[in-house]
Amino acid sequence: MSDVIGYERVGDVAVLTVRNPPVNALSQAVRQGLWDRMDQAEADAGARAVMIVGEGRAFFAGADIKEFGKPLLAPFLPDLIHRIEASPLLVVAAMHGVSLGGGLEVALGCHYRVAVPGARVGLPEVHLGLIPGAGGTQRLPRLTGVEPALEVMTSGRHVGAQEALRLSILDAVEDGDPRTVGLAFVDGLLSRGAARRPVSALPLPEAIDWDAAFAATLAKGRGQISPAWCVRAVEAAYGGSFADGMQAERKIFMDLMETDQRQGMIHAFFSERAVSHLPELKGVAPRDVAHIAVIGGGTMGAGIATAALLSGLRVHLLEMSAEAGAAARGRIEANLAGALKRGKISADDHAAMLGDALEIVTDYAALAQVDLVIEAVFEDMAVKKEVFARLDAVCKPGCVLASNTSYLDIDEIAQATSRPGDVLGLHFFSPAHVMKLLEVVVGAQSADDVVATGFALGQRMKKISVRAGVCDGFIGNRILATYRTCADHMILDGASPFEIDAALEAFGFAMGPFAVADLAGLDIGWAVRKRKRAEGQAPSRDATYADRLCEHGHFGQKTGRGYYDYAGGARTRVPNPDVMPLIEADRARMGITPRDFAPEEIVRRYMAAMVNEAAKVVGEGIARRPLDVDMVLLFGYGFPRYRGGPLKWADMEGLPGLLDDIRRYAAEDVDFWAPAPLLEQLVAEGRCFDDLNKER
Ligand code: CAA
Repeated sequence: MSDVIGYERVGDVAVLTVRNPPVNALSQAVRQGLWDRMDQAEADAGARAVMIVGEGRAFFAGADIKEFGKPLLAPFLPDLIHRIEASPLLVVAAMHGVSLGGGLEVALGCHYRVAVPGARVGLPEVHLGLIPGAGGTQRLPRLTGVEPALEVMTSGRHVGAQEALRLSILDAVEDGDPRTVGLAFVDGLLSRGAARRPVSALPLPEAIDWDAAFAATLAKGRGQISPAWCVRAVEAAYGGSFADGMQAERKIFMDLMETDQRQGMIHAFFSERAVSHLPELKGVAPRDVAHIAVIGGGTMGAGIATAALLSGLRVHLLEMSAEAGAAARGRIEANLAGALKRGKISADDHAAMLGDALEIVTDYAALAQVDLVIEAVFEDMAVKKEVFARLDAVCKPGCVLASNTSYLDIDEIAQATSRPGDVLGLHFFSPAHVMKLLEVVVGAQSADDVVATGFALGQRMKKISVRAGVCDGFIGNRILATYRTCADHMILDGASPFEIDAALEAFGFAMGPFAVADLAGLDIGWAVRKRKRAEGQAPSRDATYADRLCEHGHFGQKTGRGYYDYAGGARTRVPNPDVMPLIEADRARMGITPRDFAPEEIVRRYMAAMVNEAAKVVGEGIARRPLDVDMVLLFGYGFPRYRGGPLKWADMEGLPGLLDDIRRYAAEDVDFWAPAPLLEQLVAEGRCFDDLNKER
């Protein structure tokens, strides 16, 4: 018999120890092992109870996600759980670490559950585009009531041990080693002659208005369907026997398994872990970083300093004057007050972060001993070069020198120092203490251990760190510039910003591009356009309506008006009536007769532009793999997670059709729509982007 499940008799108790590192996923070998060990326990003379306990980090992290999308292998999890629950022996789950998805469902199949205080339970299947598929929707409501069960399932959140006890998911919480705690609990049950207590036999709680709950959950899902299907699965418990409910749950689970949403979300799950696995960094030790400096205390610099403080680093923040330093401190204080209010840090942490850990300075000499510097000053090459030359003069040897520039050439910045190997880009997204994305921009001379240090810092700050090469805009902003241009072209040709936002929000973006522009501030794009025009890089179809808006002082949310009017607050936006006349003036000046755009065409063109530019970014090596682009768009640009990312979406849509459309659009504008060579190559070879993820 395999060692994946250890077997041991301790008095009357058969102890089944799960050993499937790193997280005890319920692979086929684990399922078979549990089944066989249950048989063994039942055949073991004198055994009165079974205790299931996990070795290592978790009880069970759930089904083995790597098996999804392939033919499922027996024994199937629902059958195993039924087999456990039906055992004549008393079965107890002794839980620690996480018990998630199928892992919690195994525990719900046991007759009792005891956990240590640090344990967490949850049914996170919705985050994989699924519902609990092994009885979770049928058993959990019998313990907690319908509404708490639906809240746990539709949010997919982790529930701490004490809360799980209050919700009756757990029968007891005891401190100690899980095995010892479990054995003591089983002994207690046996000595008081406790009966088996199959959850499936418990009465159903009061029903709810299922249609209303389904509709509300669907609306909340912003296009994601699996949370709403949790409601239908729980409802099915009320339609017949327990077995009927299980069958209905399984059908919904298997139907969702076939969806693009399941594929997209599982792609996201593995990709967000794969982004920081880079072959060239294997075995490369990062430099030690305990104390950093941030240059510039504007919104970005203060956000970066906040993220650093929250991750336990000491921070020196350099500003030009005492007044500017005080303003920077105020911004950091406001950010940290938010973290305190949301319970992310304790009052003691808060005090320490604003006390010893943070020092505002105005003199570069104060930075002599820091381990890493992040420059976040005005986006101007001359200014950046001056900052880096000064850093070069004062920082200790081995100090990592990073720029937070969002588009400038890191190699040129590095040349302002005598140590280009120590220089790299660390491109944060605003607000830097909230947004998860970090682009680690690798210059031509950036040393491997400097790059490894960038990734280590990202991990410490709990960011999704993606390697990017040097080009104007790196991965994200370069692709953004292209799909924004596509949107601008559609506006000139007849679509309104409001139609475009509505179409893309229906596609699943958190916000359409014009609502995003209003949030970011229209003055940012205005400054970039002015710079590009001054450099002779004006776009071929240079519209002026956005400049006119800025000239009127309409910078978006911060001035109360941009593309939208925010008189009713940030959440209630209505189109700004000044916008369409400005657009119409541009169309008239350019001799354009506007035409209608259906929402489908808006989405198709916008996505085609995004995918085409993304393919160029991968083809040129700016992004290592398609999945790197996908994670940048997911974590930095509000791309809907359930679609996996633009290149996963493109694979699922079909690359040949997309290339045909791009070629068709190229008849209108041959330069803008020039097909990416990589896209043409993949289509010619009958391959898809995901094939490259596996190769690189
Ligand atoms: N299946 C396969 N591999 C898994 C896994 C799973 N369920 N959960 C985690 N892993 C892998 C990760 O991919 C990672 O592998 P690499 O080291 O090769 O990248 C490794 O285990 C460690 O995971 P993390 O890096 O995420 O470690 P962590 O400590 O930060 O988090 C965790 C651990 C909380 C368990 C987290 O991995 C997680 O949330 N996992 C997913 C849990 C989940 O969704 N379970 C439900 C599965 S669906 C189901 O069970 C359906 C059903 O009803 C039948």
